[in-house]
Amino acid sequence: MLKQQLTDSRLLGFAERLQSVSTHDELLDAVVSEIRGSVGYNTAWIGIAVPERNAFKIYSHQGPGVESAWDAAQEVPIDGDPYIARLIETGEIQIVEDAQTDPDVNREIVERLGNRTVINVPMKLIDSTFGSIGLGTFGDEGPRLPTEAELEYLQLLANQTVLASARILLADEREEALRQAAETERILARRQRLESMGELAAGVAHDFANQFSVIQARAQLLRDQVSDETALNNVRMIEHAAAGAGELAHQLLALGKQQDLSVAPVDIGERIAAAAEMLDRAVGRSVDVKTEIAGELPMVMADSTQIDQVLVNLGLNARDSMPDGGTISISGRRDRVNRDFVVAHPWAKLGEYVLIDVTDTGQGMMPETIERIFEPFFTTKASTGGTGLGLAVSRGIVEQHGGLIHAESELGGGSRFSVYLPAMVD
Ligand SMILES: Nc1ncnc2c1ncn2[C@@H]1O[C@H](COP(=O)(O)OP(=O)(O)OP(=O)(O)O)[C@@H](O)[C@H]1O
Ligand SMILES: [Mg+2]
Repeated sequence: MLKQQLTDSRLLGFAERLQSVSTHDELLDAVVSEIRGSVGYNTAWIGIAVPERNAFKIYSHQGPGVESAWDAAQEVPIDGDPYIARLIETGEIQIVEDAQTDPDVNREIVERLGNRTVINVPMKLIDSTFGSIGLGTFGDEGPRLPTEAELEYLQLLANQTVLASARILLADEREEALRQAAETERILARRQRLESMGELAAGVAHDFANQFSVIQARAQLLRDQVSDETALNNVRMIEHAAAGAGELAHQLLALGKQQDLSVAPVDIGERIAAAAEMLDRAVGRSVDVKTEIAGELPMVMADSTQIDQVLVNLGLNARDSMPDGGTISISGRRDRVNRDFVVAHPWAKLGEYVLIDVTDTGQGMMPETIERIFEPFFTTKASTGGTGLGLAVSRGIVEQHGGLIHAESELGGGSRFSVYLPAMVD
């Protein structure tokens, strides 16, 4: 049917058309319309071998077959289908002249689809056959065998299709790699910003802490030297303010991860219980506090006072997010940080951790808010006296312990803060 010259120019045209195809759907469109236009079969599909399941998956199909029946035949077992088995083994075109009378075909599928002639043209990469371009006739179309020239053309067409498919896969992969690199860069830049802010705040705090302790000490001396009641009152106020400012300066030290920690093996289960008890007293009656410890938790080398502070900070934030009541759950379990996790958090170290989740059923956060919550002094509670230090300090503490903290939240869907602390493993 196809003359040699025609074959060459057709194929060239097809190959050119494939150049502009950028998805597998477009590729299939091009293949099917080329098959219709050249060899005149109306229905075509692409099948890919799935070796794990010893099956052949029909990826997409086009043509006037029985549409709903195709859905039921999306994966065809290779066992019991000698044609597909031979296709993969030999890499040669397989033809079923008339599936209605052929004893070797998969009867169940043929009955559902009404296949007549079935042609599978191998798609090969190097020497192995990974799939096929399928085409054929159905029902009233009756059987129709292809000519030698048509078969030759179909094989050339399949080869071009493999090339185009490989090009699409490569382009997809490249795009994904670029996207990931940009995302990692964005995450790292944001983190760098946090680190600099923390260092700056801690640097200032260090000097302030010293100055405030001098003020406090001097005020104390002064208190013993004055007897006038009004003057004494003023001195007490100075002392009180200096103590408060000193306390704040100490908190800021946490931002630069420069606190003196007094570490010892800590049972996180106990810390969770203590935090829950404390929170239970601090939250109103409309808020439930629940805890859950999964199995035996490994010990963690930590400063328990600091860990308590983190849990309370997270718990109070959870409470603040639920003015109309709800549930705070604090859970502890053992967890592994794996490579996938490190992709999302490039500063995380692989290994065993104790994971503490503090979850609430509160109002949640917008993505723009989540981006900034760990920044020192970022707060949406300025009007109610929030300082915006709770999370910044918590992050400093957790990271000074070699751990990490991150948040997931959806506006209206509650929030979860996850704290990973390195487990002591022997
Ligand atoms: N569980 C939560 N649900 C909703 N928003 C939260 C939650 N936790 C934190 N946020 C948001 O993150 C911001 C920063 O929290 P952070 O604890 O650092 O400061 P703060 O609670 O505002 O003030 P404070 O210094 O008193 O803790 C909050 O103002 C709030 O907008
Ligand atoms: Mg807070």
